[in-house]
Amino acid sequence: MFDPMKKGNAYCCLINGHWQEGSLAPVEVTRPADGGLLGTVPALSHKEVDAAFRAAKAAQKQWAETPISVRSAILHEASFLLEEKAEAIASILSQEISKDMASSLSEVKRTADFIRFTADEGKHMEGEMVGADSFPGFNKKRFSIVTRVPLGVVLAISPFNYPVNLSASKIAPALMAGNSVILKPPTSGAISALHLAAVFHEAGLPAGVLNTVTGRGSDIGDYLVTHPMVDFISFTGSTAVGKRIARQVGMVPLLLELGGKDAALVLEDADLDDAAKDIVSGAYSYSGQRCTAVKRVLALESIADALVEKIKERVLALKTGMPHEKVQVTPLINDKAADYVQELIDDAIEKGATLICGNKREKNLIYPTLFDNVTTDMRLAWEEPFGPVLPIMRIQDVEEGIDIANRSEYGLQASVFTKNIDSAFSIAERLEVGTVHINNKTERGPDHFPFLGVKSSGMGTQGIRYSIEAMSRRKVVVVNLEP
Ligand code: NAP
Ligand code: G3P
Repeated sequence: MFDPMKKGNAYCCLINGHWQEGSLAPVEVTRPADGGLLGTVPALSHKEVDAAFRAAKAAQKQWAETPISVRSAILHEASFLLEEKAEAIASILSQEISKDMASSLSEVKRTADFIRFTADEGKHMEGEMVGADSFPGFNKKRFSIVTRVPLGVVLAISPFNYPVNLSASKIAPALMAGNSVILKPPTSGAISALHLAAVFHEAGLPAGVLNTVTGRGSDIGDYLVTHPMVDFISFTGSTAVGKRIARQVGMVPLLLELGGKDAALVLEDADLDDAAKDIVSGAYSYSGQRCTAVKRVLALESIADALVEKIKERVLALKTGMPHEKVQVTPLINDKAADYVQELIDDAIEKGATLICGNKREKNLIYPTLFDNVTTDMRLAWEEPFGPVLPIMRIQDVEEGIDIANRSEYGLQASVFTKNIDSAFSIAERLEVGTVHINNKTERGPDHFPFLGVKSSGMGTQGIRYSIEAMSRRKVVVVNLEP
């Protein structure tokens, strides 16, 4: 069957409503599980990137004029189509980023829900009237009408671990706010993201409102983020790249969702079975390649032995294998990522941490690894492995736990496990993170909750309503009635 988005296994970019090849040698996208070629995506030249921006700029005004109910209907159609193609897209996603099939399907279905919710939420971004008479010296003859207007062209840059979901969570709010979008997907994940773009296109999005630009971030990233037609950048990815973007963009507004080192504090009165269950699923799902993964456990010495046993039992029950199998731990995104995780494991062993299980590797497949007695001189205490390795650090008291949690350069999320709601709240208040979960693992959802990181974990707030707000601004018209 003729497929306009690809020629053979060479995928094209959506620019101004057409699927176009690039003029440079395309980039190969390989399957992390076996190194086989999944397809190629264009490495766009600067001229081709310019064409995408010109298309986005030209289409934006008309899109902003389009009634919100019409924009919403197009998003609803996109959500419907995505749901319809969920199995097929999940299968590509699973191969492309080595995510187990159940999680891949859940990513696609969650994205359809996200788009649907955004299509509805966008209809409620009403403005307000502010009367002047509430300020001393003014009367009711003057008032301001405050509405929300789009920012213009939004550059959306998404990471490899959720190429469908974290592309859509930028595209959908941007569109509901009346912006046009340039999507730069991750290279590993680009094919899945192009399928997402195809769904929006098929749903009836006018030409130029959504454009995709592919190519390695290291080649085209700087050109994209400093492009004069960018009005807003929404970036999710590593702290290193996020900081690089922030240094370059001057006054272009930014939303950054970056790395994390989420801590789970387990207190003496916690339900240890529940805590162990949440910690293991939080730490090892998608092989730990989630910004919100539990990345260290801070356990009070008095319950540490019992907790370690319970966590160990669950880690040993995790299934490891290939993404098409029913497993939780799969090969990492590439060999470089696995080398990095191995470095952290080796450093912990060398410095005397107790290896409870794991430290087994086949190429980029790292078996679930658990350490006890990790101390603050070890890299594993501070660095984000983005892999299936969990350090347990023993603490003497809650103060020490809060201190270690807060000494991290990151500040995404944290968990507190305790039956005492008073201590939970008082600890939550003192943790320097965007979100604290009480008696649950760290995680982003539900997607209409605010989601943010502090310190090196990000800037600005995502979440459906918050993203629409971030991608629009207030416009004020002041009315002065006849005296
Ligand atoms: P990454 O290497 O920073 O890449 C993210 C995106 O940026 C990709 O599309 C990448 O393209 C692009 N990029 C690379 N260099 C660039 C440059 N100089 N300028 C502009 N864009 C550039 O991150 P990743 O490895 O995909 O994702 C893992 C990281 O993301 C982890 O640190 C994780 O914690 C973080 N993350 C955070 C959140 C959150 O919400 N806080 C969510 C998910 C992931 P290429 O793929 O072509 O290089
Ligand atoms: O790493 C992606 C981040 O947004 C986490 O999402 O749903 O896995 O907690 P989630």
